[in-house]
Amino acid sequence: MKMACNFTIVCIFIMANITAKVAVSTNCTLDFEFKESWNSSNGNGNWGGFLNENRCGTTFNGYLEALCIRANRTGFIFLDLSEQTRCLNSVARSGQHVSICGIEKLTSGGGGCSDYATVDVEEKMGNELRSLSENCRVSCGSCVESWESINGGSHYEESMICRFAVLVALTSLKAGDDNNERIYDCLSKNTGVYAENESATDDEKKSKVRTGKVYKGILSDQQQVAIKHILNDGNEETFVREVKSLSHIKHPNLVRLLGYCLSKQDCFLIYELCPNGNLAKWLFGKDKVLSWIQRLEIAVGIARGLRFLHTYSEGCIVHRDIKPTNILLGQNLEAKLSDFGLSKLIDNGETYVSSEVRGTFGYVDPEYWNNHRVNSSGDVFSFGVVLLQILSGKKVFNLSLDKPMPLDKMARILSRGGSVKEFADPKLGGEYSMEAFDITFKLALSCTSVKQQRPTMEQVVVNLEEALHISTMATASSPQIHEEL
Ligand SMILES: *[C@@H]1O[C@H](CO)[C@@H](O)[C@H](O)[C@H]1NC(C)=O
Ligand SMILES: *[C@@H]1O[C@H](CO)[C@@H](O)[C@H](O)[C@H]1NC(C)=O
Ligand SMILES: *[C@@H]1O[C@H](CO)[C@@H](O)[C@H](O)[C@H]1NC(C)=O
Ligand SMILES: *[C@@H]1O[C@H](CO)[C@@H](O)[C@H](O)[C@H]1NC(C)=O
Ligand SMILES: *[C@@H]1O[C@H](CO)[C@@H](O)[C@H](O)[C@H]1NC(C)=O
Ligand SMILES: *[C@@H]1O[C@H](CO)[C@@H](O)[C@H](O)[C@H]1NC(C)=O
Repeated sequence: MKMACNFTIVCIFIMANITAKVAVSTNCTLDFEFKESWNSSNGNGNWGGFLNENRCGTTFNGYLEALCIRANRTGFIFLDLSEQTRCLNSVARSGQHVSICGIEKLTSGGGGCSDYATVDVEEKMGNELRSLSENCRVSCGSCVESWESINGGSHYEESMICRFAVLVALTSLKAGDDNNERIYDCLSKNTGVYAENESATDDEKKSKVRTGKVYKGILSDQQQVAIKHILNDGNEETFVREVKSLSHIKHPNLVRLLGYCLSKQDCFLIYELCPNGNLAKWLFGKDKVLSWIQRLEIAVGIARGLRFLHTYSEGCIVHRDIKPTNILLGQNLEAKLSDFGLSKLIDNGETYVSSEVRGTFGYVDPEYWNNHRVNSSGDVFSFGVVLLQILSGKKVFNLSLDKPMPLDKMARILSRGGSVKEFADPKLGGEYSMEAFDITFKLALSCTSVKQQRPTMEQVVVNLEEALHISTMATASSPQIHEEL
């Protein structure tokens, strides 16, 4: 998932149209054609940054195919150094520098997967082989996912070599099959970024003070992504390790981390783009209205995302900064938490996100100010505040009031007075199930109560799902009395 980002300006979209065909000398044991056809609009993939330069173009896929045919005949996967040198030299002599494009990284003799023959792959990575085989038959998306889940070592490159070993072994089973080319094509183009909005990178060059800013970028398959700029404080190894571990955390209600770029001063995190912006825009924007059902669905989504983080198999992940601007909305307004796990980077003592203060006034639980300890109960509190905002459409502090008070206090006072209805967002126009509103309101109050009394996110999910169920039943059974008369 690493991007080709070696310089201060990274992931630049190079406009070039080069075509060249060079027959490779017979001294190379592989039968492949050097066919460089780097066409920016066709977008030859760079295998998630494994190839240093896009100039490898289709040659690399041709090379893989040749390896696959050789593996089909001999059982060997990668060329050894002298064979490799012969093959690459013959290409280099023709004026093309294939070796710097990354092919040379696939040479046997380096230990681990680099020395595997097809029988070793079957024996040691049989599960990965079968999974890749099945998933690549299903769709390109699942093929990519399966490919990226193959890990063969602690280093990116070791894992990549294992992935290629599995891939060559897989395609060698059906050498010459058209399907092989399709798999190469899918994986080469969809495993990383190599194009980015040029104007954004130009801006980056001019200013380093833009940490935290988010840019829009475009992947080779036209998928749009969000690119977040953070400072590189020099602890690259830890950064890369952490980001890689975060990229494995996948859930429909979490913004997916797709990759990263690294340069001397800057780091960029590449996320899936959520086309509907953040929840704050929808709650407080003038011309945006969320219906009651949409609000509940968003609340359920946030709660599921948090439940997933809190019960993550490798240890609870506390988000630490739940607030409407960190809750993004996907194509169908499905809620996705952003910026999760970054706190983990901070907790390790390395402040990668140094410009970012975790926790936002008004959303952090009162206990935090005393002991500065965070656990999942802190997220439950912040979630409670957000839930109150979803119900009321109000800011946490309304500074135009005579005595500004936090929203949870205001809600508590209202609940004692018994006029819960007053709390409802006027934008709802009274169109909501009172019973569901009541459940949600009480739930929000319990989330913002003292630490020991807060529910777990599991309990929150159950309650919200019930409220949603009640609301959808009510909508389905009641006649449309609110239609225009
Ligand atoms: C590059 O791609 C475009 C669009 O796919 C095509 O029209 C053009 O002919 C290609 N150029 C070369 C040199 O392959
Ligand atoms: C091919 O190998 C032969 C003998 O090893 C050598 O004489 C010749 O120069 C080589 N040709 C190329 C193009 O490398
Ligand atoms: C080589 O490929 C052919 C067909 O493409 C296939 O029938 C055969 O089983 C393969 N052999 C090996 C050893 O994978
Ligand atoms: C890059 O960003 C600029 C400014 O936001 C925009 O006008 C342009 O269309 C973008 N380019 C692409 C390829 O999206
Ligand atoms: C969080 O810490 C508090 C004490 O500071 C404790 O009472 C509470 O049970 C903890 N919550 C979880 C979920 O561990
Ligand atoms: C703040 O309070 C004023 C006065 O009660 C009210 O008109 C306004 O809508 C409130 N704003 C928000 C964002 O809650």
